[in-house]
Amino acid sequence: MINPNEPGSDESLLTSLFPGEVVTRALVRDVELPYGAGTMALITLDNGRDHTRPDTFGPASLTSLREALDAVAARADRATPEEQRVAAVGITGKPFIFSAGADLSGAALVVARDEALAIGRLGHAVFRRLGELSVPSFAFVNGAALGGGLELALHCSYRTVSSGVTAAGLPETFLGILPGWGGTYLLPQLIGPASALKVIIENPLSQNRMLRGPEVLILGIADVMFEPADFLAESVRWAARVLTGAASVPRVRPPGGWSQASWDQAAAAARLFADGKLHGAAPAPYRAIDLVAAARGRTRDEGFAAEDEALADLILSEEFRAGLYAFDLTQKRARHAAGAPDASLGRPVTKVGVVGAGLMAAQIALLFARRLEVPVVMTDLDQARLDAGLRHVRAEVTRLRDRGRISADAAARLTALVTGSLTKDAFADADFVIEAVFEEIAVKRQVFAEVEAVVRPDCVLATNTSSLSVTEMASGLAHPSRVAGFHFFNPVAMMPLVEVVRAAHTDDATLATALAVGTGLKKNCVLVKDAPAFVVNRLLTRFLGEIIGCVDEGTPLEVAEHAPDPLGLPMSPFFLLQLVGPAVALHVTETLAAAYPDRFTVSPKLRALVAAGKTAVYRPDFTVDESVAALLARGDDSTTARGGSTPPDPPGRPPREGMAGGDRPSTAGEVRERALEALAEEIRLMLDEGVVAAPEDIDLCMILGAGWPFHLGGITPYLDRTGITEKVTGTRFRV
Ligand SMILES: NC(=O)c1ccc[n+]([C@@H]2O[C@H](COP(=O)([O-])OP(=O)(O)OC[C@H]3O[C@@H](n4cnc5c(N)ncnc54)[C@H](O)[C@@H]3O)[C@@H](O)[C@H]2O)c1
Repeated sequence: MINPNEPGSDESLLTSLFPGEVVTRALVRDVELPYGAGTMALITLDNGRDHTRPDTFGPASLTSLREALDAVAARADRATPEEQRVAAVGITGKPFIFSAGADLSGAALVVARDEALAIGRLGHAVFRRLGELSVPSFAFVNGAALGGGLELALHCSYRTVSSGVTAAGLPETFLGILPGWGGTYLLPQLIGPASALKVIIENPLSQNRMLRGPEVLILGIADVMFEPADFLAESVRWAARVLTGAASVPRVRPPGGWSQASWDQAAAAARLFADGKLHGAAPAPYRAIDLVAAARGRTRDEGFAAEDEALADLILSEEFRAGLYAFDLTQKRARHAAGAPDASLGRPVTKVGVVGAGLMAAQIALLFARRLEVPVVMTDLDQARLDAGLRHVRAEVTRLRDRGRISADAAARLTALVTGSLTKDAFADADFVIEAVFEEIAVKRQVFAEVEAVVRPDCVLATNTSSLSVTEMASGLAHPSRVAGFHFFNPVAMMPLVEVVRAAHTDDATLATALAVGTGLKKNCVLVKDAPAFVVNRLLTRFLGEIIGCVDEGTPLEVAEHAPDPLGLPMSPFFLLQLVGPAVALHVTETLAAAYPDRFTVSPKLRALVAAGKTAVYRPDFTVDESVAALLARGDDSTTARGGSTPPDPPGRPPREGMAGGDRPSTAGEVRERALEALAEEIRLMLDEGVVAAPEDIDLCMILGAGWPFHLGGITPYLDRTGITEKVTGTRFRV
């Protein structure tokens, strides 16, 4: 009979859910410690693969660790005459990886609560042995320590960390679960509730920020830090000194622990932070905060049991399903663009031309030089603009150097790689020329004609256009097959997405080259069809357009502004408008309204904002600029017009004209519903048009290009699960 309190029964319950588990073996060897400190049983976690396949813990891996710990525990308690007595236990990882935590591959298959509970229980049962041995345990955090990997280290008596660690943290709440293998209980006891909540809540909700080795030390998670070169040897020596009493181990915990008041304050601050980011849209961070808040008054057994319950609830939640889906997209689909041609068709790129030296062009030039390490030449209309672009590049290089992100040598190399020229002859030997000039089709056509006159026939011509037709841009050229869209997002260095656009005549070699360049730039490419505004801008414009439309109809600004709050999007609509810039937003809306007049409308208020020269909605103190608020509140609808040529209203859709006076206010719920239904409609149409291969690409674009959250799965899983897709389209995006 299965006894749920036995780890063995949890293992058998879970094993069938993880048929493809890459097993992390816990390999034990004896290490003679210096200073007469005895023998250490050193466990190395290794799944037998290289660092690109980090070690994780599924049921079989946990079993391997449990068996290793059983053996060393026995030797610590009472070694047989043939065995060496164990004075301490150490645990470390394979090169570059300590442990990447729980194996998530089977989590999506968990449907029953007892299975979900078993995941937490099994992890606790195995990991806690490290903290409950009769001898001290040491975690030697040599590389990435994520989620359960970091929790494993927390169960040990002591921790060392390598200064070379670039990724340590507890990213669970970002994914929709919580650190349920001891993290919410052990971390606040070790480093205090405020620091623990920074690691458990603040970092994951700040674009899943990771800790580096020195921060792990400063926070008090590790007791000591060593250089990567001799990390293990130094760690073992230090362990010996701890065991002999030669090294003292100061801890940040005050005598008697942290006060209840500081515990309460930390939890309140974390809730405020989570509210600011999510507005309650996902349960995981709140459950994690509750556990941390309660940890002070709980025993270890109670703390771990509470984690099991909370983890089980979250594993079964829709938000976690969406998180797993999103995680999978970013790990797999993002690395190999769906519909990509044979990569072997790609041509090498050894020199790059950038037309324009403005906001985007200068950032693009630097990125190419930094990642591809090839010469990059920029051009612009006059010396002053060119100089400004080059100055931007140099200032950015200096900033990177001053922050220690690149060496002085690399800074000098980068500066030398990016040059300027007022004539396009400088592109004669370039393999890839990208334009980032004004968003006007005539200007871009002219630029491509001038570039084509000087470059080789096999040079790829790419455009950074946000919304214009790439096909039209290429139409006057001798070789339109070499033109592709290459749409970056601002800020270029930070945003991971490039929409690579296949125009009507783009050939496979051009696309393969563009995709290889994208990968070389460390960007994730999604292949999209040449359709107005591609994916991200089209969806954001539709979404924003419906919300601004509600303001046009009389919905108060603050109601419209906060209507999407329950979705937990990265920013409110009018902040987004400010980030994009009202003029750019207007321009993209005009393009879309000309293409799809039945669904995209140019708001008279947006036009008025741009006409008044407003570039920001918010002031630096985060209050709405009164003059903007007044413009948005004004019921002057005399300029109401649809995009471009004011086409006639299509049948079935009520005209917006005449509504701007404010006699049709909506509630926040109505605004949200309308915006989401519009998204569902637009996505369906985009899929029918073949803008991307599948809904997964839409979600990937929204996650990587707009920062839409994992708990929505991008957007289509959310639209499906709330019934909005079905209501609008009669079916679901994914069946
Ligand atoms: N700003 C953004 O956030 C963003 C994001 C993605 C894509 N884009 C796209 O990138 C492109 C550039 O946008 P930006 O914001 O960098 O504009 P910008 O106005 O800052 O820069 C454009 C530059 O192009 C130069 N230029 C114009 N005509 C030229 C010509 N014939 N030859 C050489 N240089 C010429 C201008 O002098 C100017 O320096 C646009 O297509 C825009 O839609 C912008």
